[in-house]
Amino acid sequence: MIPLFKVFISKDINEKLLSVLHSGFIGEGESVKGFENNLRDFLDSNFVATVNAGTSALHLAYHMSLYKKKGYKVNNDLEIITSPMTCSATNTPIINNGAKIVWADCDSNTGNICPESIRKKITSKTRAIVMIHWGGNPCLIDEINQIAKEYGIKVVEDAAHALGSEYKSKKIGSISDFTCFSFQAIKHITSVDGGLLCCKSKESYERAKLLRWFGIDREPKAKEKVDLRCELDISEAGYKFHMNNISAVVGNENLKHVNYIVGKHRENALFYNNYFDAHGIKYAKENEKSAYWLYTIHTNNRDELMRGLQEKGIMSSKVHARNDKHSMFKDFYTDDLKGVDEFNRTHLCIPVGWWVNEKDREYIAKSIVELNN
Ligand SMILES: Cc1ncc(COP(=O)(O)O)c(C=O)c1O
Repeated sequence: MIPLFKVFISKDINEKLLSVLHSGFIGEGESVKGFENNLRDFLDSNFVATVNAGTSALHLAYHMSLYKKKGYKVNNDLEIITSPMTCSATNTPIINNGAKIVWADCDSNTGNICPESIRKKITSKTRAIVMIHWGGNPCLIDEINQIAKEYGIKVVEDAAHALGSEYKSKKIGSISDFTCFSFQAIKHITSVDGGLLCCKSKESYERAKLLRWFGIDREPKAKEKVDLRCELDISEAGYKFHMNNISAVVGNENLKHVNYIVGKHRENALFYNNYFDAHGIKYAKENEKSAYWLYTIHTNNRDELMRGLQEKGIMSSKVHARNDKHSMFKDFYTDDLKGVDEFNRTHLCIPVGWWVNEKDREYIAKSIVELNN
């Protein structure tokens, strides 16, 4: 079987991992700092805070977009505009933060949220706009930030698929108020589980660092206190979302291979683009430079095509189904998502990652053309 996803673990990891494991300090320490420094350099983003999952990064981004520091109250009149065409992990933290979801439509080809639809959904209760770079393909970031600026609301990028993606020659991670990455098992880079919150402002970054660890300051100035944990006031209720040294050392070793990994994904995707152009297969067009965590085609006979590919030893999947149909989100139902209807009817993801070699990709592309007729 040619898998749709594969876990990448650096061959050089063992010694470093064991050394941290037996170091006596496995919580958030020097390895986490080292990983953050390298991520900051790679993303060219000033304020980066690792966390234990991409979902936690999203949770903190929504929390900070919705609630002013100190003494917040959960308020169901607060709204966040988002897309249903994503992993449910993008959207569950919105309701877990006590806010209402407002669904905006997506582009039927790329699966990315539409700025025109966002504009129509803005109300006086809107606090943030969320964009998800489907498969790593950057959304229309400038247009969305422009809308947010007009209304004085925050922008959150769910970049779980987009490590290494670029928008107008800038790495995703340094553009909007908040950008959230995932280092879950099958992402470009894994730290077993983990995530990253990139903040545009220093203020949000400082707040995020408190929020990720119970609301307690772990920075050196706090150590002037004699009995660190017990002497500091906690002014805002935080979470236990920090990354530990074990995850960080895994992530850091894997990060050394990020250019190779993203490069392979892109190389395979560009091969498919050419092949499918020549053979009339519809696929999600690249908006800006995508890291191609997913390669998405469109077909009118998806189930049949999936079955045929399965028989030929090729895995394929929708990967994410529209979120708005889940009963947990029933209160936010809307019937004006024509782009979502269409994308969700036809999209299918095929193997594109670093493990797909030249022979595999030719075989996959040929099989799709053959089966799709
Ligand atoms: C688009 C998207 N957002 C968020 C997440 C959540 O990330 P994590 O699993 O690291 O919490 C995922 C996948 O895991 C995802 O695909």
